[in-house]
Amino acid sequence: MDYQSAKKYLTEIGQEQLLEYYDELTPSQREQLLEDISGTDFSVIQNIGMPHKSPQRIEPLKPLELSEISRRSKEFEAAGLNLLAQGKAAVVLLAGGQGTRLGFDKPKGMFNIGVTRNLSLFELHFKNMLTVAGRAGRAFPVFVMTSRSNNDDTVNFFKENGYFGYPQNKIYFFIQDVAPACSFDGKIFLEQKHRVSLAPNGNGGWYKSLVSCGLDKVMEREGVEWINVCGVDNVLQSFCDPLFLGATVKEGYACAAKIVLKERPEENVGLLCTVDGRPSVIEYYEMDDRLKRASKDGRLLYCNGVTLNYLFNADILKRTNCADFPYHLAKKKIVHMEKGVQVHPAEPCGYKFETLVVDMVNAMENCLPFQVERNREFAPVKNAEGADSVATARALLEENGIKL
Ligand code: UTP
Repeated sequence: MDYQSAKKYLTEIGQEQLLEYYDELTPSQREQLLEDISGTDFSVIQNIGMPHKSPQRIEPLKPLELSEISRRSKEFEAAGLNLLAQGKAAVVLLAGGQGTRLGFDKPKGMFNIGVTRNLSLFELHFKNMLTVAGRAGRAFPVFVMTSRSNNDDTVNFFKENGYFGYPQNKIYFFIQDVAPACSFDGKIFLEQKHRVSLAPNGNGGWYKSLVSCGLDKVMEREGVEWINVCGVDNVLQSFCDPLFLGATVKEGYACAAKIVLKERPEENVGLLCTVDGRPSVIEYYEMDDRLKRASKDGRLLYCNGVTLNYLFNADILKRTNCADFPYHLAKKKIVHMEKGVQVHPAEPCGYKFETLVVDMVNAMENCLPFQVERNREFAPVKNAEGADSVATARALLEENGIKL
């Protein structure tokens, strides 16, 4: 795309601010900017102000509770270990996020949660995976999703750390797609004078990105029937948990989610329920107050707090149209250019467009809410301080006997 056609097109769609600094740029910067512009999917902007499809009927979904899981633990665990021993499960580790709330400028998986020693989130997770693999007598494949901006750092970190002792030939990296970020009034930001602000397009893009890298074929070759999709930032995350795998298979579900009971109406956690009869997760920023506070007998009615640990049947996923998942608007702090200066805002200043893994749940015919003990399995590192922060995650790790 040349300057004239870029100018014409951007003026037509009201995004001419992207050329604001064009005159100041060097020839190679100009080339870079025009390349960014021609590679940008401007259609995502249409999602701003789009009325939410109002659901007809929202209903709570009964979880498989701790007591029942404990009663049938031997049966579930044996079934799960059997699947793992046959190589029928794999992990997708979602590590493409930007961690803006944490304010850490490296991949979140590299964050050092140790106190007296170095202990990255990646190391913590892969050591846990090794333990499960050891119990099953077989290492399961792990597909690590990165973003354009953090892929090199991530891959190098794994190399430098000897893949944390996990078999290297079982670890696959793939890069997720991007979407532009914009101000609240829909103007796409420049991150630098010559770079369009492009952010990873949310964790729901994992399947499409995995397929476009050909890694679905690798999964098939490996004989993977169950995909355990997990976030990188829960320091108590358990991967390919035999109990979880076994219960899902034994109970005949297409999909399952590890959930914790939501404690407070204000807690920022997505809720697994049914919408118009289908399993659905309503994100915390998309939830209205009435729903947040609905309660019965002193208990929150919608209490299945998802922990970003899902299990999907690979075959059913393959038959699902993953290309059609909607974009969600996430209010974020976005580094951008303002009056010639790069601004690092302290408060959210615009939208990022994100596809969410929870929309895949909605595309499944059913989903098992599998309850886990909050203090044993849920300690997300989202914020620099306060709730879900480094301090709360460290305290919970110590409570679980992990020496930091
Ligand atoms: P979050 O939604 O908490 O986003 O990610 P984040 O980017 O880590 O942090 P903030 O919102 O900017 O502060 C939940 C999980 O999904 C992954 C993250 O790496 C994390 O494991 N994720 C998120 C992706 O893999 N890609 C994305 O585009 C977004």
